[in-house]
Amino acid sequence: MPAVVIVGAQWGDEGKGKATDLLGSRVDYVVKFNGGNNAGHTVVIGDEKYALHLLPSGILSPGCVPVIGNGVVVDLNVLFQEIDGLEARGIDTSALKISANAHVIADYNRTLDKVTERFLGSRKIGTTGRGIGPTYADKMNRLGVRVQDLFDEKILRAKVEGALEVKNQILTKVYNRRAVGVDEIVEELLGYVERLRPMVADTALLLHEALADDQTVLLEAGQATLLDVDHGTYPFVTSSSATTGGACTGSGIAPTQITRVIGIVKAYATRVGEGPFPTELFDADGERLRANGGEFGTTTGRPRRCGWYDAPVARYAARINGVTDFVLTKLDVLTGWDKIPVCVAYEVDGERVDEMPSTQTGFHHAKPVYEFLDGWSEDISGAREFSDLPDAAQRYVRAIEQMSGARVSAVGVGPDREQTVVLHDLLG
Ligand code: GDP
Ligand code: IMO
Ligand code: MG
Repeated sequence: MPAVVIVGAQWGDEGKGKATDLLGSRVDYVVKFNGGNNAGHTVVIGDEKYALHLLPSGILSPGCVPVIGNGVVVDLNVLFQEIDGLEARGIDTSALKISANAHVIADYNRTLDKVTERFLGSRKIGTTGRGIGPTYADKMNRLGVRVQDLFDEKILRAKVEGALEVKNQILTKVYNRRAVGVDEIVEELLGYVERLRPMVADTALLLHEALADDQTVLLEAGQATLLDVDHGTYPFVTSSSATTGGACTGSGIAPTQITRVIGIVKAYATRVGEGPFPTELFDADGERLRANGGEFGTTTGRPRRCGWYDAPVARYAARINGVTDFVLTKLDVLTGWDKIPVCVAYEVDGERVDEMPSTQTGFHHAKPVYEFLDGWSEDISGAREFSDLPDAAQRYVRAIEQMSGARVSAVGVGPDREQTVVLHDLLG
């Protein structure tokens, strides 16, 4: 009954999609448990490159059932666009299952996401503008529309009416926008019903039955630990639970069923949007990381902010998630530096602090304390065994492992599925 969780250990875009795809052929189910189409997971298989937003990366593995769990917020237009795009490329998506309890992103929430950001001005979060925050806010406010509501027009209409009573006040009186009509929202949502019907299931029950039958379930996070609404750098976070706890609430799988937690961590660090980032670089090294790593958002195309590896952040993620194994990605991007700085602690208001400060002010004031590790100049993209890596690269991996609170079980040396050095079997 193994349930295995994949989480991001930094600020997102660590390479969760590649890791999920790597394991896809060996698991029976891949579940997306949080977030929505704010995520962008790129998977490269030979000459083919796929950018997935709403669908779990397991959709690319034949024989694996992809599941959108109850913790996800679903933009139905994006869902069907993504399905059509994959089908046109010969990917069979017919096994997809969607939780009846997942919430639906309505058009007014996309509008509210964008106007709220504009209204916030310099205090903005830098969201993806996909309506994620307002949809989760509705869920907590008990004003949300769920997938199951679409199958009962009377209930759907009543729920949309209830939500719009509040939303239209905000749209017209606070943001000076036009009021939204109930009919236009209901009609749009009803337009998806027939296509949606065969996909909707009691996914928690489905997953429990699979686990009882000794099948393997992989739970794939969107976003990452430092973007988690509880454990991230609040308020500069997304609005969902991107950590292992979220894997349980967002899928209906119990904590006692999780046997392994795989933390994905980049060999350096990136962040998209606003918020604190102690090791951020504003110099030629930052530019070089961005260029070598192709660090431009999969979802919005924004240049990602780049910086050095931050060990206290990785340790924090290891603790919050119960990471059993790290996958260290994009080691190849660091090729060519003589010395590679790694943040081992912070200086906060003149004092050395070894762990992530627990307050927003403390983390905003944190200045990295660096150790300088030896670099390497050899091309490592063809490495498949740990011994294929140059000595300095091996030492970098071992040093990071020692600092980060869990063993490194795989190392990424390129975007392709094959470009991975496996040290310990991630499922065995
Ligand atoms: P995710 O959101 O965590 O799935 O990560 P993204 O897909 O947004 O960003 C990771 C990017 O790095 C993608 O373009 C991947 O194809 C690429 N990638 C993943 N692992 C590696 C690696 O080991 N080396 C290199 N060079 N690229 C990688
Ligand atoms: P993956 O799954 C990186 C960031 C946004 C913004 C904040 C809130 O590809 O790792 P939101 O639209 O979620 O309300 O935006 O979170 N963000 C991500 N950054 N990778 C992601 O997903 C992200 N999803 C959201 O840039 O700062
Ligand atoms: Mg991404």
